[in-house]
Amino acid sequence: MTDLKKSIHGEWSSRFAFILAATGSAVGLGNIWKFPYITGENGGGAFVLVYLLCVLLIGIPIMIAETMLGRRSRLNPINTMIVLTEEAEADKNWHYLGWRGVIAGFFILSYYSVVAGWASAYVLKAFTGSFFGADPTAIKSLFDSFVASPVQLIFWHSVFMAATMWIVSRGVNSGLEQAVRFLMPSLFILMMLLVAYAMTTDSYERGVSFMFALDFSKLTANGVLTAMGHAFFTLSLGMGAIMIYGSYLPKNVSISQTVFLIAGTDTAVALLAGIAIFPIVFESGLEPAAGPGLIFQTLPVAFGNMTGGWFFGVLFFVLLVFAALSSSISLIEPAVAWMVENKDMSRKEASIWSCLVTWLLGFGTIFSFNIWSDFKIFDRTIFQLLDYLTANLMLPIGGFCIAVFAGWIMKQHHTEHELAMPNAFSYQVWQFLICYVSPAAVFLVFLHVVGVL
Ligand code: TRP
Repeated sequence: MTDLKKSIHGEWSSRFAFILAATGSAVGLGNIWKFPYITGENGGGAFVLVYLLCVLLIGIPIMIAETMLGRRSRLNPINTMIVLTEEAEADKNWHYLGWRGVIAGFFILSYYSVVAGWASAYVLKAFTGSFFGADPTAIKSLFDSFVASPVQLIFWHSVFMAATMWIVSRGVNSGLEQAVRFLMPSLFILMMLLVAYAMTTDSYERGVSFMFALDFSKLTANGVLTAMGHAFFTLSLGMGAIMIYGSYLPKNVSISQTVFLIAGTDTAVALLAGIAIFPIVFESGLEPAAGPGLIFQTLPVAFGNMTGGWFFGVLFFVLLVFAALSSSISLIEPAVAWMVENKDMSRKEASIWSCLVTWLLGFGTIFSFNIWSDFKIFDRTIFQLLDYLTANLMLPIGGFCIAVFAGWIMKQHHTEHELAMPNAFSYQVWQFLICYVSPAAVFLVFLHVVGVL
């Protein structure tokens, strides 16, 4: 089984291609849209610290494990779990892990696409000069009236889903590799530019200290859960996305080094986004806890007032849409690969079906911002519920199971062989983290939220 050398869907042309694709998957709305607003809602510094710890102690070891599972089986996450369970002579219930991931992918993409639609709409707004010289109140009402319109949101959500469908139907290594190659460096440079702009505001220090000054009194149990959930979300872990990308990874590549690089880049982009946004938040007299609209209510203020703002504004939102596209592809790829492998569908048919389902699910999120904004289940709108269910529950549960599977169920000589770490010590560190630290941390956070701790 180990010698199933290539996936039927193709293989990355090199280690670099995998890095690009996995970074493309990791860096997205999670870093630039979600990280700042949840940091704002959860009081800043202490939340950021917990998030960073979670990336290091839970995210990275699990990312190594998830990539490894995929590369070992060379199959979609559902079949990966079936094959590896057999190899380890383990219980058949492990099969559900693959399924749960595919479902989580649909749920996440359904709201992810709606927000990516906002970013697409903002490309046009930037282009037509809507931000020019605008003050924070005008920018805020621009956003409010935009999300109040179901028709506009449906339009942009549809555009984004159509683009995703188009790219996914073409397969992993045609357009995607090329797009990410220029996207990542440009996005990075643009984030630096925004940070530079933030530095020119009087609120720069206040913004930075909001992000890094530790005040644990502001952190609730749910905040800790959100920070942990976000570590999974931002690294694309716990649902099979990284597993499927791992399954296209050539055999001779070092998984651990690659993962460090990807996780490092991802974290850097998120921190830069925060450092750019909070000074503008304070400068504009906005609330850090303004919620999901935060970046759409702050960054246009910067673009509207800086020199060359028209150009940078258009460029920024274009890059954000591309970053979202390279992430959305990984959310749907496990489902598509499964349909191709098991249901005898062509890639095209599989993409159409899965994108259609996601598109329909997206209406729940669209209406959460307007006509159904008062419709709440467990005190949450459909959007909030989907986000909580996936990022805070499904992904950590998936990650927990991946850790247990890789650490306790798989045979040690298999994992050791597959990872081929540079030395025995690194392998032992990983093994310790994956067997004890990561699962225990996830478990403790859950206990904490339930209130047992
Ligand atoms: N990591 C992406 C982001 O930060 C979102 C994402 C892509 C994702 N694929 C995923 C989240 C798989 C969870 C699972 O925007």
